[in-house]
Amino acid sequence: MKTPIILGIESSCDDTSAAVIWGRKVLSNAVASQKIHENYGGVVPELASRAHQQNIIPVIHQAIHEANIRKNQIDAIAFTRGPGLLGSLLVGASFAKSLSMSLQVPLIEVNHMQGHILAHLIEDADKEAVSFPFLCLTVSGGHTQIVKVINAFDMEILGETLDDAAGEAFDKIGKLLGLNYPAGHLIDKLAKSGDENRFAFAQPKLDGLKFSFSGIKTSVLYFLQKEIQKNPDFVQENLNDLCASVQKTIVNALMVKLKSAIEQTKIKNVAIAGGVSANSKLREKIKELEVAHGCKTFIPRFEYTTDNAAMIAIVGSLKYEKGEFADLKTVVSARYGI
Ligand code: KG4
Ligand code: ZN
Repeated sequence: MKTPIILGIESSCDDTSAAVIWGRKVLSNAVASQKIHENYGGVVPELASRAHQQNIIPVIHQAIHEANIRKNQIDAIAFTRGPGLLGSLLVGASFAKSLSMSLQVPLIEVNHMQGHILAHLIEDADKEAVSFPFLCLTVSGGHTQIVKVINAFDMEILGETLDDAAGEAFDKIGKLLGLNYPAGHLIDKLAKSGDENRFAFAQPKLDGLKFSFSGIKTSVLYFLQKEIQKNPDFVQENLNDLCASVQKTIVNALMVKLKSAIEQTKIKNVAIAGGVSANSKLREKIKELEVAHGCKTFIPRFEYTTDNAAMIAIVGSLKYEKGEFADLKTVVSARYGI
C-alpha cells in the first residue's frame, strides 16, 4: 500500500488546528489559538465555535501550503469526533465532511484522547519510538487519566479524576493568582524562580488510581483569602513561591498515582500526553522514574502536547491502514470514551 497522506482537523476546544501527515511523518501542523478567552478566565463555548469558523479555512490553507502538497494528493480527512465542546466539534466535523465530499476521499473519525496518546507514534514525537504496552498519564485541561495502552487500538483507563482535571486546577488557581487563562504555562514559568517548599497545600487522599484536584484549589483559595486579609499585596509579593508551591502540589498528586500504576501493572514504559505534559516540573519528575523505578520514559515534543491536529492525523493514518472509515452520518460527541 502506498503511504497515505492524511489531513487532520482538530477543533474540540479553543485551538483550531490542521495538519498533514505522510504515514507517520508530520509535514505540517498549523495551530490558531483563540486569544479571546483570556478576557473571561476560561473557554466560552459560544465564542470558541465562532472563532473556529473564522480560523478553519486559513488554518487548513496554511497546513496544506506548509506541507507543500496539492489538495488532490490528500488520501483521507481525519477529524476530531469528541470528546469536546459540541459547537466547536461541529465546525471541524462539518468542514471535514464537506472537504471529503468535494475531494472524494474517505473520512476518518478520531477520539481526541486517543489522539493525545497516539501522538507518541508520530515519527519525531519522542527521542526514541514508544513501545507497547505502555502506561500513559494523559493530563489536559479537560482530562486526567492513567491509561494502559496495550496497542494503538486497545486501551484501558486505569484511573481518572473524580472532579477537576489537572490542567483545570492550574487554570483555576492561576485565576485566583490573577493570571490570564490558560495559566498552566505561566505558573510553570513563574515557578522557575520560586521556592516550591515555601507553602504547603492539601494533598488529595483517594483510594486506588483515582485523582481529585478540587481540594487543592479550595485549599489555595482559603489560604489566599486569609493572607490577603493581613496583607492585600500578598499575592504580588509572593507570586513565584506561590506558583512553585502550587505546581509541586499538583505534580506530586499526579506522580503518586502514576507510581502506584507502575507498581500494580509492572509496566515500565511510561509516557505522558496532553497539555499539562508540557510542564517542566512534571517532565523532570517523569525523567526521575528512569533511575528510581527502572522505567523507560517517553516525553513528547512540545508541539504534540497541547491540542494539535498532528495527533488527529496520526490516528487517521493508523485507521486508514486498517480501512476504518466513517460515513457522512457520523455525529460529533461531547462525551466519547476511548
Ligand atoms: O491538551 P490541551 O491543550 O487541551 C485540552 O484538551 O484540554 O491542554 C490545555 C491545558 C490547560 O489547562 C493549560 O493550562 C495546560 O494544559 N498547560 C500547562 C502547561 N502548558 C499547558 N499546565 C502546566 N504547565 C504547562 N507548561
Ligand atoms: Zn486535548
